Amino acid sequence: MALDIIVGAQWGDEGKGRIVDLLSAQADVVARFNGGDNAGHTVNVAGQTFKLHLIPSGIIHPRPVGIMGNGMVINPLTLLKELDMLAENGVTLSPGRLQISYAAHLITPAHRALDQAQEKSRGQGQIGTTGRGIGPAYTDKASRRGLRMADMLDPKSFAEKMAAHINDTNLILQKLYGAEPLDANQVAEEYRVCAEKIAPYISDTAQFLAQALKQGRSILAEGAQGTLLDIDHGTYPYVTSSPTTAAGVLSGLGLGISPIGRVIGATKSFQTRVGSGPFPTEVFDEDAVRLRGTGANPWDEFGTTTGRPRRVGWLDTVLLRYAARVNGLTELVITKMDVLSGLPSVRICSAYRAGSETFHELPLGPADLSPYTPVYEDLPGWQADLTGLRSAAQLPAEARAYLRRIEELTGVPVSLVSVGPERSQVIQLN
Ligand code: IMP
Repeated sequence: MALDIIVGAQWGDEGKGRIVDLLSAQADVVARFNGGDNAGHTVNVAGQTFKLHLIPSGIIHPRPVGIMGNGMVINPLTLLKELDMLAENGVTLSPGRLQISYAAHLITPAHRALDQAQEKSRGQGQIGTTGRGIGPAYTDKASRRGLRMADMLDPKSFAEKMAAHINDTNLILQKLYGAEPLDANQVAEEYRVCAEKIAPYISDTAQFLAQALKQGRSILAEGAQGTLLDIDHGTYPYVTSSPTTAAGVLSGLGLGISPIGRVIGATKSFQTRVGSGPFPTEVFDEDAVRLRGTGANPWDEFGTTTGRPRRVGWLDTVLLRYAARVNGLTELVITKMDVLSGLPSVRICSAYRAGSETFHELPLGPADLSPYTPVYEDLPGWQADLTGLRSAAQLPAEARAYLRRIEELTGVPVSLVSVGPERSQVIQLN
């Protein structure tokens, strides 16, 4: 059995968590390879809702081992909270069942403070980060002055390194941003206590994964965020600071070039984004409320991590085609198909126009989409409630036609459609 990959094909929040949960029932290992607690993965199981930020969503199943790879940035405080939350809900993760790479980087309170100070200083040009310290933690990693999980294994030197890191960052916080300094000794002590609890989980996860592949065990690699937030391939600079695409899996887990099975791209039946940046098919006012919901339902479009209302719009297959290419997608999973029920017609963006020219591909990637206006196709809507449907044959003809059009425009088959938040509310297509 090879390595299967699931990534977001849009700007994150595609519903990867619940799809990962679905596929993890058969997996031996579930592994996160990028990002940190900027992610929010929601899984609903038998009326119970789990909101996970760091630990792979597939861990809710009793079988798989959970891996947090070297490509991640980990806030130990969030991690401990998440472990407690899971234990309170009947999912107790012993070391061994959850393994954290010694090479994953730490997020500290100084990173969070810096993230927030930097955002403030950007004024109109704000990225709209989650404020979780992601950018500064990856900056420290690239600058070769970050703290890694392995540092937690030696309490004395860890406390010293942490205090030095806080003192260094205080200089930047105070001198560059006029922000409040942090108490280095207090942070060092708080993190020393965390380190004691987390140390048993730290190991060489890359070695474990290589061995697992050799033994023919199945690995499901779980991406956070989405393709258009990738540090290289996204709508730069309105991106996160890690690779979110399939190529990040090998480096973010420490695997060599390995046989790869399915590369699944998760996408909503429409488009959403949190934070700033281009969004050609964005809609506003009543149309936006129709797609976003009012916040009355847990599945309405409000951020899992920040609670911010998400920007919403019609499905953009120029960007989806791009995501299919940069990830090498073998299939698409379409979530929230039920949300489109009741519309007289459903819009889909099939190309962009700039002046008299029509574009099906992006000449210079997605960073600057300002020259383009979307070219829409209006497809007939469907009125039936889809939430109770469980087979492709039950889907209204208009819904099937919409899915077929997505396949035609992207060149990627749709394997699964979700019609509600529960584990059972999915329809297998191919
Ligand atoms: P950061 O990752 O907190 O630095 O935020 C950078 C950009 O990525 C912002 O626009 C965030 O809203 C967005 N972002 C980060 N994580 C997620 C996610 O899990 N879902 C959706 N957007 C995200």
